[in-house]
Amino acid sequence: MPAELICFEERCRARFPITEVIYNCPRCGGLVEAHYPEAPAPAAELRALWLSRRASNLPIDQSGVWRFRELIPFVSENDAICTLREGNTPLLAAPRAAQYGGLDHLVFKHQGFNPTGSFKDNGMTCGVAQALRLGMRRVACVSTGNTSASMAAYASAAGLQPIVFIPHGNIAYGKLAQALEYGARTLQVEANFDQILALVRRLADRLGIYLLNSMNPFRIEGQKTIMVEMMEQRGWRLPDWVVLPGGNLGNVSAFGKGLREMLEAGLIPRLPRLAVIQAAGSAPFYDLFHAADRSRLNAVTHPETLATAIKIGDPVSWPKALREVSNSGGTVEKVTEQEIADAKAIIGLCGIGCEPASAATLAGIRKLTAASVIAADADVVAVLTGNVLKDPDYIYRYHTDQLKAPNGDPIQAHFGNKPVVVPNDDSTIVELLNE
Ligand code: F0G
Repeated sequence: MPAELICFEERCRARFPITEVIYNCPRCGGLVEAHYPEAPAPAAELRALWLSRRASNLPIDQSGVWRFRELIPFVSENDAICTLREGNTPLLAAPRAAQYGGLDHLVFKHQGFNPTGSFKDNGMTCGVAQALRLGMRRVACVSTGNTSASMAAYASAAGLQPIVFIPHGNIAYGKLAQALEYGARTLQVEANFDQILALVRRLADRLGIYLLNSMNPFRIEGQKTIMVEMMEQRGWRLPDWVVLPGGNLGNVSAFGKGLREMLEAGLIPRLPRLAVIQAAGSAPFYDLFHAADRSRLNAVTHPETLATAIKIGDPVSWPKALREVSNSGGTVEKVTEQEIADAKAIIGLCGIGCEPASAATLAGIRKLTAASVIAADADVVAVLTGNVLKDPDYIYRYHTDQLKAPNGDPIQAHFGNKPVVVPNDDSTIVELLNE
């Protein structure tokens, strides 16, 4: 039986052909996901096959997404696939960050090592593969920056026209620069992410463009493989916790689905716990998770955070995220602007670095260990979602004591590292460095 799309809502579960262009269930409006009626090959066989592909020069074998294609069989081997060798991101041990986070050990899975510098590439190679098989010519997304950078690159590489919608004045320059350089038609809309998403959904049908936001189920298929690759890199030893930042909540939905499917395939014996960290000024999922009634998410109308990647008040994928986090026995935490800024500087001091949203992970871990939700000796993987160079402006301001929270409060540079201006004079410099 071929792959199909299935409504995520338990009470509906309507099924649709995999080639139907839908982002929500036409019957009940629920989110949809890819579903594979046939079980993949036995676990041992899959592991051996994936390992053998590491020695291959075939582009799809070198992709850290398509190498695991037995778990994402929504296209056939004959369909066009555009890969920029996404995935293949390292697990990096970070003792200094571990200590700061109250842990004995901490490992970062750094998605910032991707071709466009974020985890979006894992999903975009799949979203664009689906756009190609559907015969689409134009693809679009609304984005806080990274999705637009990634979509622009993959669409252009695949010969499609990328159209990006971004909140005017509210995305980091590194990301805007990428969208322009990769040739996207770039529209800076005078509205916030949530408002623009509603706009783009209205426009998609009218303009005949294919939407590549994270409610696109094929994006989720690609992002699933982040968990598969992590497990393979760990020799299939499960961590206790996987910690990640949450914005529109596509990524945690993807991680949950990937882990669920690995469990079904016998690749892992149980689920690790998922911890989602949000910025305190944009934390509707935190509020939902800790509310008595979890049946409806109350959107934050004016989300605020300097971690612009996760400045989202009305996350589309919350029903999926809620189920995945709950099933895993996980939790949701929120962190302040100061906590994000300091955690980010610590990750930098490990020689690793990341963008602000990614640093929410370490700030969250610090809070969760202090509250004894995560034990000090727990085996924790934190996912750094974006590269340090995405938002250089933020970094410079922090280290030069100029960073201000959205409400105008100064952020203290507790781990600041100010550059020093010196005269072109040997003895002054010798004196300074020998101080
Ligand atoms: N971290 C980074 C660096 C991101 O760019 C995003 C989302 C997230 C975390 C949150 O992931 O939305 O799946 O919960 N960026 C999107 C974008 C919204 O448009 O680039 P999520």
